Formats: sequence, structure tokens, C-alpha cells
Amino acid sequence: MTYITVALNGLIAVGAYFMALRIIPRFKDMFIKANLFGKDLCKRDKKEIPESLGVLVGCVFLVAMFLFIPVPFTLEEAAAMDVETGGKPATFPHEEFVELIVALLSICCMILLGFADDVLDLRWRHKLLLPTIATLPLLMVYYVNYNSTTIIMPKFVRGLFGYSLDIGVLYYIYMGMLAVFCTNAINILAGINGLEVGQSLIVAASILIFNAIELCLGHQVDGHKFSVYLMLPFLAVSLALWKYNKYPSQVFVGDTFCYFAGMTFAVVGILGHFSKTLILFFLPQIINFLYSIPQLFKFVPCPRHRLPKYDPQTDLLHISTTEFRKDELNILGKLMVTVLKTFKLITWQEMPDGRVITNNFTLINFVLVVFGPVHERVVTQMLMGVQVLCSIVAFVIRYPLASYVYDT
Ligand code: UD1
Ligand code: MG
Repeated sequence: MTYITVALNGLIAVGAYFMALRIIPRFKDMFIKANLFGKDLCKRDKKEIPESLGVLVGCVFLVAMFLFIPVPFTLEEAAAMDVETGGKPATFPHEEFVELIVALLSICCMILLGFADDVLDLRWRHKLLLPTIATLPLLMVYYVNYNSTTIIMPKFVRGLFGYSLDIGVLYYIYMGMLAVFCTNAINILAGINGLEVGQSLIVAASILIFNAIELCLGHQVDGHKFSVYLMLPFLAVSLALWKYNKYPSQVFVGDTFCYFAGMTFAVVGILGHFSKTLILFFLPQIINFLYSIPQLFKFVPCPRHRLPKYDPQTDLLHISTTEFRKDELNILGKLMVTVLKTFKLITWQEMPDGRVITNNFTLINFVLVVFGPVHERVVTQMLMGVQVLCSIVAFVIRYPLASYVYDT
């Protein structure tokens, strides 16, 4: 029965792909009329491009999922029909049902909040708070269905902590933070055509490969099935969006898509019980976040946009910069820039008047620090290459290496 359910889910995903492909161009003008557009900063003509199309593919995703809901709960349960209960399934899987519903509720909330961010340009504190609130229903279901807050210890620390450790409420805080991380991490690795969707496509494909492997091995079948049900339609609508968002972008995805994608990943990681593996698929985003810390937490000035600087003469992207006087940084700020400078992770130009000019601390700029001015299309390809490479590393850590640390 599982195969038929997955096949039907795939069929609905294909339908969602063609639906998204058809409606995105039709809505472009409507978004511009509603003042939902952004200037493509890395182009000569700085054209106005419709923005927040993530809301459209998010809706197509939700419609696809709503159509899918009856499938696993009629097909698979048909086998368990009990005539005495009047044709109702004898053992209706309420737990699985509520998981799917609440997953869609959290994703739906995040699409709404992302759209609010695009329209109202929310402050950073809201961006951190909103995903946390959107995960609460999810955590509640986790609490009711599992409430397992025990973590298995790696072999080398078992002498100290024992085989496993119950971290209680800390586990819920960790899961809440996972949603905040996934949503914002995609949003700050952005600014060049196709990158938000490109990275999400690779993460989604990696999750699907992981689910397929685990399903074949017969591990945690319910969790991985649940993940496939959400990931296939997500991959489908993102592919359609990618077609219009890749270089040269005809549409921008907006924060709506970043939040929608991040929340969908967090939901499958939490309710599919593979949040640690999920984090492994976010390696480039983790690196970008760690590298960004000095600017995100204002130890070093952070301009509104950190995307690379466009040179209209050569049509290439150069690093974008920030400047400061070393004596205006606090002690932590000084320490951070000194470490980054020592390891040659940032450019460093001291002006005669004491000002220092460095690149903005993003992975996109770092690629440009290493490879010099590069065309926008190529920078996106390079970063997607990094994402694929990191997924391969993630699989190596998850399978061959994990067996040294855990009993897999
Ligand atoms: C985040 C980043 C910001 C980056 C921006 C780009 C942090 C803390 N914030 O801010 O540095 O500049 O994303 O998305 O790291 N744009 C393009 N080409 C693209 C995509 C976007 O020019 O391919 C520009 C457009 O003008 C678009 C704008 O970026 O309107 C969208 O920025 P927005 O999503 O509002 O920025 P943030 O998410 O706040
Ligand atoms: Mg954004």
C-alpha cells in the first residue's frame, strides 16, 4: 500500500508542478500592480521584478497537500476496515493524521508570516520570534505523540554520561531553534538569482534520497514516509519556481519562499525524527551563519544589503564591502575581525585615515574573495556545487562515519 500512496503523492506533485508552472507567469503583473516588486541589483538596468512569488507556490503546495490528505487515510486504512463500526476504519491512525494536519498548519502559518515580512519589512526580532511561535503546534503534537527527549550518546562519552541522556525541555528548545535556524539560514544565503530556490532544491533532494535509503533499510518507516509525502510536492513546486527564478530572474521568491522552505524542512526533520541528519544537509547555511555572526549581532557594521557589488562594465560580480574604524569595535568585535584576518577569511584594506574596509561576511562574498570577480550565473552554480558537495559529505558522516560514533 505504501508504494501506491507514494505513487499517488508523486502524481499530485507532478500536477502541482504543472499548475505552478502555468500560474507563475500569469500572476507576474498582478504582483507588480500590488507594489510587490524588487529591483534586480546585479543587473545593468536594475529592472523591477515581481517579488514574493513564494506565496503562490506555497499555496499550490498547500492545495496539493490538501488533495493528498485523504489518500493515506483511506487507501491504507481500507485494509483495516471493520464492518461492525459501520465501515469506519477499526484502527484509525489519529496520531499520524494529526501530525500531517499540524505540519500543514505550521507551514501555512510560516507562509503567512513570510508574506507579512515581504509586505511590511519586519524587524529582526520578529523574524526570530515568528518561526518559534509557528512551531508551537508542532511541538505540542510531538509532546502528545512521542515526548521522547532522550538523546543517544556517542560511544566516546558514554563513560561520562551513560548510554543515553534525557534532556527534557531542552529538547523542545532545540526543536524550536531548529525552525528559526532553517527559515532564517536560507534567507541570509541569498541575493543572487536562483540561489534561494537552488539551495532548497538540493536540500530537498538530499532529504528524499536519505528517506529512500532509510525506507529500503526499514528504519523508522512512518517518519520517512511522512517526509516523502511533504518533500515530493515541495520539490515539484520549487522546481517550477526555479524555472522563473534562475538567472536571469523573471520573478523573485521573497522571504515568503525562504520561510516556507525552511519550515517545511524543519517540520519533516522534527516529525520524521531525523533532525540531526537534517542539520548535516544545512552545512553551507551553517558556515554562512557562523561567518555572518560578527555582522548579524552588530559587532561589525551590517549594511541593509550584503549581496555582491555589480560592475556594469564587465557584467561581473565583485565583493561588497563594509567599513569601520578598528577603535570603534568592542573587544569581541576586535577579536572576531583579527581571527578572520589572520586566517585570511576576509579582505582587509587599511585607509590612511584609520578606516578599515573589508568584504561583507557572507559565503557569496567569500566565494568572490577566493575566485575574484565572477559572473552572477556562475556564482550561483558555484554555491549550488558547494551545497551538493556538502550533501555528499553529510551522507559520508551519516553512514560510514556515524557507525564509529553510534551503534548504527
Ligand atoms: C537578506 C540578507 C541581505 C541580502 C538580501 C538579499 C542578511 C542579514 N540579509 O536580507 O544581506 O542582501 O537577503 O536577498 O544577510 N535581490 C536581487 N537579486 C536576487 C535576489 C534579491 O537583487 O536574486 C534583491 C532585490 O532588490 C530584492 C531584495 O534583494 O528586492 C530582497 O531582499 P530581502 O529578502 O528583503 O532582504 P532580507 O531577506 O532582509
Ligand atoms: Mg530575503
